[in-house]
Formats: sequence, structure tokens, C-alpha cells
Amino acid sequence: MNILVTGANGQLGMELRNIAGKDGNSHKFIFTDVTAPDGMETEYLDITDAGAVMEAVSSCEADVIVNCAAYTNVDRAEEDPRGADLLNRAAPENLAAAALSCGAVLIHISTDYVFGGDACIPYNEDCVTAPASVYGRTKLAGEEAVVRSGCRYLVFRTAWLYSPYGRNFMKTMKDLTSRKDRLNVVFDQVGSPTCAADLASAIAGIIDTGQLDRQGIYHYSNEGVCSWYDFALAVRDLSGNGPGGTSGHCCRIDPCHSDEFPSKVRRPHYSVLDKSRFKETFGMEVPYWLDSLKKCISRMSS
Ligand SMILES: NC(=O)c1ccc[n+]([C@@H]2O[C@H](COP(=O)([O-])OP(=O)(O)OC[C@H]3O[C@@H](n4cnc5c(N)ncnc54)[C@H](OP(=O)(O)O)[C@@H]3O)[C@@H](O)[C@H]2O)c1
Repeated sequence: MNILVTGANGQLGMELRNIAGKDGNSHKFIFTDVTAPDGMETEYLDITDAGAVMEAVSSCEADVIVNCAAYTNVDRAEEDPRGADLLNRAAPENLAAAALSCGAVLIHISTDYVFGGDACIPYNEDCVTAPASVYGRTKLAGEEAVVRSGCRYLVFRTAWLYSPYGRNFMKTMKDLTSRKDRLNVVFDQVGSPTCAADLASAIAGIIDTGQLDRQGIYHYSNEGVCSWYDFALAVRDLSGNGPGGTSGHCCRIDPCHSDEFPSKVRRPHYSVLDKSRFKETFGMEVPYWLDSLKKCISRMSS
């Protein structure tokens, strides 16, 4: 199959690159993005350009499009709602139109931010959406555009994504705990850290097992629940920066409330996604967050 990946130099895109590079992969991947870091084979494709998207999808005869591109800076989106709308709503609309015209399946990624974040049991796909930020509203509008388009699609809502690439909470904590003596991290926001490698391998598994016809919206995060504080402690300890750790440097982390970090964005207090539909539909296991974190950190140090 010909698989066109957009935003291929972001966290999820890089993990798809790793899968594509493995022995036994029989697909042709076309990796696209708006930037081309050194050493990364990347074709230029700005997904906000409808004409360029149509041309790219048809010229590579894509069977599948995986949209990993998004306006992911949640704080900046509040100041730049037009930019966020262009990338999170209009661009998926462009991809869906091209998928429809060329008969490709669009795999689109969305977020827990489409929900209000005030629940106390995990959100399933039928829960009412109530985004409280520009990022959440524009991502929801993107999902809706894909569903409305008439193209064949799979939408995966994920949360708390981390990887060895780009900027993310795990990398920030790994760095800060290696050089600070003390940190405060919020404990009143809970969710499920999700290793981008696991989401990428779930997507690749669905393609490989011919399950692209199971059209719908699905929730995918790693299994388990923790607060950002718990996540930070785990990153610190696995990086050797906790009490008795291998680095010899110990960083103390104290729990704090969200209001100690004033922000323009109201972040969800509860971001846990119910993965039942994903597991039942695709027959796949979802790894526990701490197991995946251990693997990711050991991968980074080897
Ligand atoms: N990160 C999270 O915690 C999180 C949580 C829930 C859901 N998600 C969703 O998961 C998906 C993947 O997220 P991620 O963290 O892997 O994203 P990411 O690391 O921010 O990567 C996005 C990529 O898209 C590129 N891009 C920006 N503008 C573009 C354009 N006009 N055309 C094509 N590419 C463009 C970016 O390039 P530049 O870097 O040069 O801008 C970047 O390489 C997104 O849909 C996101 O909304 C993420």
C-alpha cells in the first residue's frame, strides 16, 4: 500500500518513520511535512494548501493518508485562533476531500481536549463533547469535517502524547530533574500518558491486518491513570534522578494545584479515555503507561 504521512517530523510521524524502517515492512511510505530536518527524507507538503494536498494525494496514488500534523501548541492557539483553525479544522477538511476524490482512507488524530475534562469516569466515544479551549474547539471541528466529508476514515483521539522527539512533558521532566534540586508539579489533573510509539504501532497494525474498513471514532491512550505529578516522579526515577538514583543527582518533586501555574487555557482535570471500543473492534491490547514509559526511557539512553 502507498501510505502518505503528513506532519511526519512530529512525535507521531517520527514513530511511524521508525516502523516504516523496520525489516519486513512491505508498504511504500511517503513522509511529508513543512520542515525538513537534516537527515530526514521529507517531501514538502503544507496541508493548509488544498490544491497541494489534492496533487500530493493523487500523484502518489495514496491508499492511506495518516494525518500527524496539527497545531499542537495549546497556549499559543489561544492567541492565534485563525492559525489553529487553519491547521486543525481546514487542513483535515482538505485531506478528507483529497481522500474522497482518490478513494484513500484518512487516518486522522484528535485529542482528549474535545471534552470538558470535568468527568469522573473515563470518556467513551459517545460522551458529549465540550471543548474549553481554542485547541479543543478547532480539533473537534477537524474531526467533524472528516466525518462529514464522506471519505473513508478512522479518527483516533489520544492524550498526553510523549516520545523521544520534539517537545513534550516527559522530555521536559527528564531534563529538569537532571539539573534542578526541586520542582512543583500539578496533581489535580489526571490522565493516561501515551507513548507515541504505541499509537504508531496500533495504526500500523490496523493497516497491516486489513482493518481499515472499521470506520469510526476511537479512543486510544495507554492503559492506566495518573496525575502529572505521578508521571513526573516516574520519569525522574526511571531517569536515575530520584533518591539513590544512578545519576547521583536527586531532584525533589512536590505536588501542587493547577492554580499555582496561571494559564490562559483551562486544562482538563480529567482526561481519561475509555479504550473499550478500540480493543473490541481491532482485537489489540493496549500497553500500561508505566511499562511503555520504561521502554521509552531505556530506548533514549541506549
Ligand atoms: N502532543 C500531545 O500531547 C497530543 C495529545 C493529544 C492529541 N494529540 C494529537 O496527536 C497528533 C500528533 O501530535 P504530535 O504531538 O505528534 O504533533 P507535533 O509533534 O506537534 O507534530 C506536528 C507536525 O506537523 C507539522 N506541521 C505544522 N504545520 C504544518 C502544515 N501546515 N502542514 C504540514 N505539517 C505541518 C509540524 O511542523 P513544525 O514543528 O515545524 O510546526 C510538526 O512536524 C496531533 O493531531 C495532535 O493534535 C497530541
